[in-house]
Formats: sequence, C-alpha cells, structure tokens
Amino acid sequence: MVPLIRNKTHNLIPTPPTTSFLSRILSSAMSSSSSNSDHLPLKPIPGSYGFPFFGPIIDRHNYFYHEGRDNFFAARVRRHNSTVIRTNMPPGPFIASDPRVVALLDGASFPILFDNQKVQKLDVLDGTFMPSTKFTGGFRVCAYLDTAEPNHELIKGFFLQALARRKDAVLPLFRNCLGESFAEIEEQMSKNKKADFNGVFSQASFNFIFRLFCDNKDPSQTNLASKGPKLVDTWLLFQLAPLATLGLPKIFNYIEDFLIRTLPFPACITKSGYNSLYDAFKTHATALLDEAQKLGLDRDEACHNVVFTAGFNAYGGLKNQFPVLLKWVGLAGEKLHEELAREVRRVVNAEGGVTLNALEKMPLVKSVVYEMLRIEPAVPYQYARAREDLVVRSHDASFEVKKGEMLFGYQPFATKDPRIFEDAEVFVARRFVGEGEKLLKHVLWSNGKETEEPSVSNKQCPGKNLVVLLCRLLLVELFLRYDTFEFEFKQSGFGPSVTITSLTKASTF
Ligand code: HEM
Repeated sequence: MVPLIRNKTHNLIPTPPTTSFLSRILSSAMSSSSSNSDHLPLKPIPGSYGFPFFGPIIDRHNYFYHEGRDNFFAARVRRHNSTVIRTNMPPGPFIASDPRVVALLDGASFPILFDNQKVQKLDVLDGTFMPSTKFTGGFRVCAYLDTAEPNHELIKGFFLQALARRKDAVLPLFRNCLGESFAEIEEQMSKNKKADFNGVFSQASFNFIFRLFCDNKDPSQTNLASKGPKLVDTWLLFQLAPLATLGLPKIFNYIEDFLIRTLPFPACITKSGYNSLYDAFKTHATALLDEAQKLGLDRDEACHNVVFTAGFNAYGGLKNQFPVLLKWVGLAGEKLHEELAREVRRVVNAEGGVTLNALEKMPLVKSVVYEMLRIEPAVPYQYARAREDLVVRSHDASFEVKKGEMLFGYQPFATKDPRIFEDAEVFVARRFVGEGEKLLKHVLWSNGKETEEPSVSNKQCPGKNLVVLLCRLLLVELFLRYDTFEFEFKQSGFGPSVTITSLTKASTF
C-alpha cells in the first residue's frame, strides 16, 4: 500500500515508494534478538547471482521495470529474511564486467562502507562500472581515487582548503543567488501562475558554484552565457545513462534497456560542451588553480578536477537536493511553515540579520534539513570493495565477505531503518532537535556520518558542511519572504520535479 501524507494543499499525497511496507519488511527481517554485535551468529550471505549474463539482465529488468528500486531490495530482504544479501546491480552486461555485489540494506551494516582501512574506493563512484576517463580530460578525478592513492590526499586536500578559504564568501554569495532565484520565481508566477522550481534552482546551483570557484565571476558574462547547466546535464547524462531509466511506457522498456545499457556512450558526444566548461574554469578560476599549483598539482589535472567537482559533485548534488528539500517542507504543510517562519524571523530580528551565528540558533531549521537529508538523500548508492576478508554485521547476524568482493549500500534503507529511527519513513520535522541530535550519527548522506568530518584520509564529501549551510539558507530566505507556499511535484528516478503554484508573501517581519 502507498502511504499518504495529509496536508492542506495536497489532501492525500503519496510519498515516494519507500513505505511503511518497507518498515514492516525490515522489522520482520530483523527479529528482536540481541544486537550485541560481538556475539552475532555467523551466517552465509543469502541470495544468488543467477546464471552468468542472464542473471544480471533479469535482475536489472526487475530493478528498473518490474519491481522498481525500493521494491527490488524489499522483496529480496523478505525472501531471504536478511538485510545483507547477494544480488546483481545494474548496469551489468556488457557495460560492467562484474555486476555481483553484497547489498547492505540496514543502518547497522551500511557504515562498513566508511571504514577506509577495510574497504577500497577505487573507481567505484558509479558502482560496478566507470565511465571513460575521456569524459574528464583523461584523468581519474578525485571522486574515483582510493584513499591509499597519494593523489587522493593531494586533490582532496586542495578542495578542503579551497572551501575553507572561501567560507566567508558563501553566505553573501548564496543569498545573492537566492535573491535572483526568488525574483525569477515571482516573475514566472505573475506570468504563468506557476513556477518551475527545478529549472530556477538548477541555474542557481550552477551560478553559485561557478562564482564561488571563479572569484565571483557571473557565468553569464563568460563563454558559457546561460548554457552552463545544460552543458553539465548533457555531460552527466552520457556518463550516468546506464544507471537510469526515463520511465517511458512499458512498451519501450526493452528498447531503452538495449540502447543505454549495451555499450557505453563515447565521450566524444559531449566533447565540445565539456571543452566549453573546461575553458570557462581555466580562464576564470585562476586564483583557485594557482592554489592547486602551489600544493604541487598539475594545473591541467587540477582544472579537470575543478570541472568535475563543480559540475558532477556540487551542481549535480545541489540541483537534486534543493527540490527534495522543498518537496518535504511543502508536504509537511502550513503548520510547519508557520513554525519555521516564526523561528527564522525571531532569530534574524534578534541577531540583526542573516549571519552564521543566527543560523546556529535555529534548531527547527537545522532539524528539518537533517531530516530531509535522512529521508531522501540525493545520492542513494554507495559502493566499496573489501580490501581484505572481513565481517559485516547487520542487527542480527554477521557475514563473511571475501577480499575483492563488492559491497553496495542502498542508503534509503540505512537511514530509514526502523531499528534506529522511530516512524522511520515519516518526515518528522523536529526529529533532530535537543536530545534528537544524538541520532545525527545515523544521517549518512555525505558518505560518512553527520557527526564526522571529511578529511584527506576518508571519502566523505568535502562539501558536507557547505551543503547543510546552503539548505538552511534556502529555508531562511524562503520564510523571510513568504508565509507559506503551495506546489505540485512529479517523482522520477532523478528525484522530484517541483512546480510552485502559489506563494503567500510574508505578513510579518
Ligand atoms: C547536495 C549536494 C551534494 C551531495 C548530495 C554530495 C554527495 C556526495 C557523496 C555521497 C560523495 C561520496 C561518493 C562516493 O564515494 O560514494 C561525495 C563526494 C564528493 N563530493 Fe559531494 N555532495 C554534494 C555537494 C558537494 C559540493 C558542494 C562539493 C564541493 C564544492 C562536493 C565535492 C565532493 C568531492 C570532491 C567528493 C569526492 C570526495 C573524495 O574523493 O574523498 N560535493 N559527495
């Protein structure tokens, strides 16, 4: 059954398909036995890979077209009565030579993926296949490097330092982008009675990261004009197509599958667009590239890394995460909007403006952002290979994994684990307020725990604190300007598409 959320604007709205159904399956797969992890019985990992070639193809058809992502995993948890199972992951033949994984489907087993002593993160950003390095100027960029590779330390260190140096620019710059974005939304509303939130915030995400990395240069004044987001979207699409489905009518499923999952797309299709992006960063990110060179990085390699981090990691993550934020806050309804507006306006008045200090004094805003990152992380998959023979522990059993086997974590099942979170698939705005902060160690969206920090020796997102800050700022600006909003959304494999249908201007400040 699809669960429903009741609110004023959307009488009964289906939530995405991870459901109370999921809770029931996960809870029943995990009996109420002791979770003292040292004494868990050692069990063989259930599940099978099927026949070579056919098994992976059957699994990917089930995953994309018959069962769907959440049900694919939920069905296997139920069938094997285990949250650690063997399965194939897309894309499979012929793009990935070995699609076999050990899937971690609860919050107890998932964090092994962050233990860089035990797991290797070499070329696993996209899972069991890696797009050609021709998409990135011939370089293996940071996100594909394992922590044991010296270049990881060098490049990750460069990004951590670059972000730290620009921390004072973030708040005014993003507020400026938000000002432009809300003006654009209001203009669309006055013309069409609705506004395309995703379109406006894709542009804002690109503008923000470009200006942050390029000394505040507006991309519209460069060779990119307003084409930046489109160029990145096309470049991303051809790299990630094997992991996606367009959600076309059933009749097209086999054609789609054959076209996008038989052979990888060649990088030459996006070469000229990529070169435009590269040229824009090469010309305008001069201070940033100087910093990279000072640290000992080759300028050309640094620039390809900057394009990837700005385009794939930052823009790709933010443009998907902002609509998710708006969707959940929108679904929560007018009462939450009132509470948020009250908190935001009170603190901003008392602090004399929107400052970092002010943001720290908004427990509800903070909690809402963490809850959104928990309930619908923009990057739901994480992969890593066992560096050595190791033991993975779920809540109820332990499992031996052999050196070289691929581990795959499906994050929504980890962060909606009913053994960790009460009402795990309900959006609880105040979940992380006060005592609730203790649960932050189970919020994992950044490829690490929310209570830990990115460093050169781990693979946690260096943009972790920046992303949280930007999401808080979005809420602050929204509720300084408006009392409430109404919206519609369509859920797809890429995340929600949000259309704003009404905005009520702030009645108090
Ligand atoms: C909502 C936005 C974002 C999301 C959801 C996100 C998520 C992630 C995740 C899940 C990873 C780990 C991938 C893996 O190895 O499995 C990652 C890595 C990374 N992210 Fe982010 N990120 C976001 C924004 C940013 C921003 C704003 C930046 C930089 C300005 C950034 C830079 C990076 C880099 C460089 C890595 C590779 C880290 C490493 O190799 O150690 N990300 N991000």
